[in-house]
Amino acid sequence: MSLEGKRILISVSGGIAAYKINFLVRMLIKKGAEVQVLLTPAAENFVSKLTLSTLSKKPVYSEFYSENGTWNNHVDLALWADLMIVAPCTANTLSKMVHGLCDNLVIATYLSAKCPVFIAPAMDLDMYEHPSTRQNLEMAEDFGHVVIPAESGELASGLNGPGRMAEPAHIVAAIETFFSQNQALKNLAGKTILITAGPTHEAIDPVRFIGNHSSGKMGFSLAEEAAKRGAKVILISGPSSLQTNYENISLHRVTSAKEMFDKVFEYYKEVDIAIASAAVADYAPKEIAVEKIKKSDDSLFIELIKNPDILKTMGDQKTHQFLVGFALETQDEEAHAKGKLEKKNLDMIVLNSLRDEGAGFQKDTNKIKIITKSDIKSFDLKSKEDVAKDILNFVEEQMSK
Ligand code: PMT
Repeated sequence: MSLEGKRILISVSGGIAAYKINFLVRMLIKKGAEVQVLLTPAAENFVSKLTLSTLSKKPVYSEFYSENGTWNNHVDLALWADLMIVAPCTANTLSKMVHGLCDNLVIATYLSAKCPVFIAPAMDLDMYEHPSTRQNLEMAEDFGHVVIPAESGELASGLNGPGRMAEPAHIVAAIETFFSQNQALKNLAGKTILITAGPTHEAIDPVRFIGNHSSGKMGFSLAEEAAKRGAKVILISGPSSLQTNYENISLHRVTSAKEMFDKVFEYYKEVDIAIASAAVADYAPKEIAVEKIKKSDDSLFIELIKNPDILKTMGDQKTHQFLVGFALETQDEEAHAKGKLEKKNLDMIVLNSLRDEGAGFQKDTNKIKIITKSDIKSFDLKSKEDVAKDILNFVEEQMSK
């Protein structure tokens, strides 16, 4: 794969494997990448700035200030990069990264980076196996970084085993795989997608409401997966404690079905895809008591009136939108879901049943069937993140037909 135009920041720390970075830089440049090299002070003992700057066609930085007094702005360096790789990553640099010990340009740049970070550890066998290193590598993975495992072989100490930095060709392959998968994932770029999530709360009086158990997890997972695929996402959520901080998700919080309805139809005309995963209350109290309703010895009757059906209205007003509904059922699941598909003029409906263990409200998992006019596809129990992937894969497949 060509890496044409990709901006790769290589941060080199001080280990013997640093000599291999010359080859890594050369390979990346040959593939069309732009490469910027940074060194920790210790790395300067192992490699030559002159060699690396000649190969990368850029100055190599190791200090916050250059000799001529100019500031090597770590924030600009970090924001410039499409990908940062720390290679070789010594035990010392790894430890500083995961604990935020910011005492050199490499770590300051790493802490400012918003791009994906790859780590190619290299150290002696026992250091690599040490619980402290294992824990630091796990922490790095928890931060979302990609660890390219050290390879086995003869080490500088004379010992034999895992600890050698992955070969430059293997590092390039990992970078290429990452970019190609990422490109494939961007196939909702240019699309606007509206997603409803969470429950609605229908006020009875200032302290009580009619609601349901939806947490918003299914809807937020869909929104985040759509955002990862490059879509502009309008997420309209009922009361939920969940947060999201993707740049391309605009989150609108509402309380009642009526508010959700109004917010949906502010945007509906302009969207390409709409997915209704919210659990919307079908009824709301006719009157909302101004003061808290006092307990009495009599039964309490609350008159409920029908809420607008947001999804059905979207179906009625559909022009070009690809419309996806959800059905949460407890019996005759397929028949009810098919009825909703027809009645609400949907392109597909996602059925989840409360009879399936691990499916439905609050859970981190779900088990779904996707139903179209001509097809039913069943999926295994999966995390809601993976269910979101299945749903969006299906949407993309249907839209491309
Ligand atoms: O939020 P979680 O805890 O992760 O739980 C996820 C979920 C179980 C809420 C989700 O997977 C789900 O099934 N959502 C739909 C719940 C629901 O209300 O289903 P329904 O069969 O009652 O409604 C059918 C469809 O019409 C749904 O797409 C619903 O959003 C929509 N609807 C319903 C009523 C209404 N007044 N307006 C609507 O838009």
